[in-house]
Amino acid sequence: MSIVHFSRRHSQRRIRTDALRMNSTSILAETTIYPATDATVARAARCLLAGQLVGLPTETVYGLAARGDDANAVNRIFTAKNRPHHNPLILHVATAAEAFTLFADEFVESLRQRAERLSIFWPGPLTMIGPRHPSILDHVTAGGNTVAVRVPDHPVALAVLRELAELAGCVVPVAAPSANLSNYVSPTTARHVFDGLGEHVAMILDGGACRVGLESTIVWMPTDDSPLQVLRSGAISSAELSVAVGEQVVSANSRRETKPDVVAPGQFAKHYSPRTPMLLMREDTRPSSSPGFSGRVLQIIFGPIDDDLPRETANLWSFNPDGKLETAAAALYATLRQADNLRFDLIVVTGCVEDGLGLAIMDRLRRASQK
Ligand code: TXA
Ligand code: MG
Repeated sequence: MSIVHFSRRHSQRRIRTDALRMNSTSILAETTIYPATDATVARAARCLLAGQLVGLPTETVYGLAARGDDANAVNRIFTAKNRPHHNPLILHVATAAEAFTLFADEFVESLRQRAERLSIFWPGPLTMIGPRHPSILDHVTAGGNTVAVRVPDHPVALAVLRELAELAGCVVPVAAPSANLSNYVSPTTARHVFDGLGEHVAMILDGGACRVGLESTIVWMPTDDSPLQVLRSGAISSAELSVAVGEQVVSANSRRETKPDVVAPGQFAKHYSPRTPMLLMREDTRPSSSPGFSGRVLQIIFGPIDDDLPRETANLWSFNPDGKLETAAAALYATLRQADNLRFDLIVVTGCVEDGLGLAIMDRLRRASQK
């Protein structure tokens, strides 16, 4: 009798503790996440000026922002994310003209034409890597002689960058990696940022779900006349880049069939990974009502869940019921995070065709499923 009594009281206490914990988490979320308004944008700029970390929406993924000209602020990024110091950061500015000032002077002469042609994608999901200006901190470049620069295409990010320049009286580049713990799935909502890094940021600006959903395409700009190279695929394909720049832009193949000349240190094979083990199947694999794995299995496909697919498959999701790759890219990380939260034993993903945006999506899925 007394044992029953004890366990009931005990479980009531546990329910109360869980409720308290959930309450305090939502209170903390409410005091950390701010809808983007003129006032909260100004507040975010003041936080950045003071060297604090801010969760910032961009069109690709949310960034963990710090002023890029302050070594202590930049170091806070590495500590919060548990990111190795040898992995350099992207600097964000509001215009292409500002971006070019971050490159070394000789770059501006020798490569200005190529960079200017590529800058038609700015503001947008493109990052250029070129020789660094001597003023850029080693903390940003990981001591290397190049710097990665991008002009984000999000009104909130641009407003914060402009406000920061206004407050500081000069352009202040903002260092911002994806706002996730190192190696975990990137964030595409303010809540994702809070879930991973809430305790490390002064505030998170909520600018809605990210339009693109995949990190920017990274292009390496060599100082000689060797070809431009895509180091990370993204929404802007190497074919589009080639047309813009008027020369072939090559791809450092994500499958590493060919060894690239340069690599982005952050592009380790395993990356963007949910905690739940994940299997990536060929695009022509059909989902099955008995997938042949033990435990609770979630199957995720691309395209509509047709009537001829096994209805009895309880856990069958689609990244893009409308069949559009843009929809899948925008939903990719949120879907993987949701799957993780529901604690399946295994996620089985059927891949998509590796063309255009499909290349970038498959690159992320391949990394997410690496053991
Ligand atoms: O869309 C994006 O690019 C997002 C948003 C927030 O702008 N940012 C982002 O940052 O994805 P991060 O740190 O998660 O990824 C940047 C990648 C890493 O793989 C890093 O190694 C590489 O860029 N990178 C940065 N600077 C580099 C450099 N100088 N040389 C080679 N790779 C570099
Ligand atoms: Mg990242």
